[in-house]
Amino acid sequence: MEIKPINSYNKMSKLAAEMVAEQIINKPNTVLGLATGSTPVGMYRELVRMHREGDLDLSQVKTFNLDEYLGLSPEHSQSYHYYMYENFFKYVNIREENIHIPKGNAEDPVQECLDYEKKIKGLGGIDLQILGIGVNGHVGFNEPNINLEARTHIIQLSNETITANSRFFKNLDEVPKKAITMGMATIMKSKKIILMAWGAEKKKPILKVISGPIATEVPASLLQVHNDVILIVDKKIYSFSSAINSLSYPDKI
Ligand code: F6R
Repeated sequence: MEIKPINSYNKMSKLAAEMVAEQIINKPNTVLGLATGSTPVGMYRELVRMHREGDLDLSQVKTFNLDEYLGLSPEHSQSYHYYMYENFFKYVNIREENIHIPKGNAEDPVQECLDYEKKIKGLGGIDLQILGIGVNGHVGFNEPNINLEARTHIIQLSNETITANSRFFKNLDEVPKKAITMGMATIMKSKKIILMAWGAEKKKPILKVISGPIATEVPASLLQVHNDVILIVDKKIYSFSSAINSLSYPDKI
């Protein structure tokens, strides 16, 4: 795992966007795995800026989002469909048919999960996956548990996640209790992964990802066995413990 401690949210967003752009320039028909939430908003803003300035053509890019709330229609203002269009898709030239987000209101959600996996596989898998991390160590909506599901599936959200995400809803009761999420194997099969973490509340899960044991109780800790993960992390929450001395990071960013 390569670690890049960063001292401002804007710099983190810029760096992540530059890495995404580099990937797309090197492989114009890149299959991108995308995340929602507060963390990647700045990265999307940067990518939109690059596109507007003529530096980034996304016309051949294919995207797969990590997750979607079960029961929310794409038009719902808190759905991840809505988020993706408002923050990114509306402003760039990714073709509609190349955008994939699990349908939260699918008639048959189990079939939706199977179809989603099939589509990812059919396009050769994910080249670059963007991840955030939950306060409880979740990635996508793979919640801490004694067992984790490998492939795209329906998951019961943990109380911690429901509480954390209630900031986007009128109240706690409005937060969906279930979601569709890529599984850990789906994520781990991505050729390259960028995990971003910003803010004090991410210190605990990030330290577990960097130096903790690999445990299904911290789903993000599985990333330690992936051979191409870049962690772009808030410098303040990053502690230079001896356990991570062997890891590489740039001199200055
Ligand atoms: C969202 C997702 C989640 C978030 C995580 C952090 O698509 O997959 O795992 O990345 O909950 O959310 P924020 O960035 O809002 O702290």
